[in-house]
Amino acid sequence: MSKFWSDIVHTLTPYVPGEQPKLKNLIKLNTNENPYPPSPKVLEALKAEAAETLRLYPDPNSDKLKSAIANYYGLQANQVFVGNGSDEILAHVFQALLKHDKPLLFPDITYSFYPVYCGLYQIQYKTVALNQQFEIDIEDYLQPNGGIILPNPNAPTGIPLPLAKIEQLFKRNPESVVVVDEAYVDFGTESAVRLIQQNPNLLVTQTLSKSRSLAGLRVGFALGHPDLIEALIRVKDSFNSYPIDRFAEAGAIAAMQDQAYFEHTCQQVVATRERLVKDMQALGFDVLPSGANFIFAKHRVKAGCELSAQLREQGIIVRQFQSPARIKEYLRITIGTEAQSQALISALTQLI
Ligand SMILES: Cc1ncc(COP(=O)(O)O)c(C=O)c1O
Repeated sequence: MSKFWSDIVHTLTPYVPGEQPKLKNLIKLNTNENPYPPSPKVLEALKAEAAETLRLYPDPNSDKLKSAIANYYGLQANQVFVGNGSDEILAHVFQALLKHDKPLLFPDITYSFYPVYCGLYQIQYKTVALNQQFEIDIEDYLQPNGGIILPNPNAPTGIPLPLAKIEQLFKRNPESVVVVDEAYVDFGTESAVRLIQQNPNLLVTQTLSKSRSLAGLRVGFALGHPDLIEALIRVKDSFNSYPIDRFAEAGAIAAMQDQAYFEHTCQQVVATRERLVKDMQALGFDVLPSGANFIFAKHRVKAGCELSAQLREQGIIVRQFQSPARIKEYLRITIGTEAQSQALISALTQLI
């Protein structure tokens, strides 16, 4: 009954997340989840939270979680904003900080949710083409803008940008906010968090979905100058007072505090990635340099859509994008366990 829709709803083109198949026993390498379970301490914290207190609302300000994140990074709690996954954080960032008279800039090949938020909040934007090597060239962003957002490492390419470049970007753009979406930063990319203290126009977003194995809990955070955080709080408190439920807060605190488990699982993912890259290159794939928990790879002969369909027949799902044309031949492959990685290589060896 679309006659009842508000006008804007007719104009929306919603984001389409990677498939969450109902079939069991698939090797699921399509949505960049962590192949390892969350820390056992997270599971203990969640069990403890399944209690009579669920009848009460959670803390609307998530103060304990903010303190845990602030302690982890050596920041103050008023430099931290938390939300229901970094997607929700990003939505608030777009609305609170990136809607201005001049266009928002982001790469032409990047996280495909960005243009969706622009549609929802009616933000004008301009995409900036990646260079021939699929890299972000920061010189291309030195043009009039109402804000800049980019993931580091970029998605779906996985290519990391050195911190010195990111620093130049926000230093040379003092009149607008530069948002660095660090969803995948813990897998070998340099974080910009330590530059927050001196730079009031830098906002960093991160998530517990990837490096802390908590995609199902939905917790993300933003770090930046208290004035930027204040804008996000205003939007959040005009939208949903309780984005972090009691389970999410307890589990996220436990995850932030289990440093040893976090480091160990991240190192495992990185080690598997490095082996997978070598094996894929030996099979004739060009693999872009990755600082993430996924790789972006193209076979020199076999078409991307054919390979992805054939892998699926063998119970292995990877992600392949139909557009833009430049990336059609690429497969985005999440790093799984060592055993999953070997199964992938055996399947590819047969197919090629
Ligand atoms: C670049 C990037 N940013 C943010 C997100 C959102 O993650 P979440 O909402 O799970 O925190 C994703 C998810 O895949 C992503 O790829």
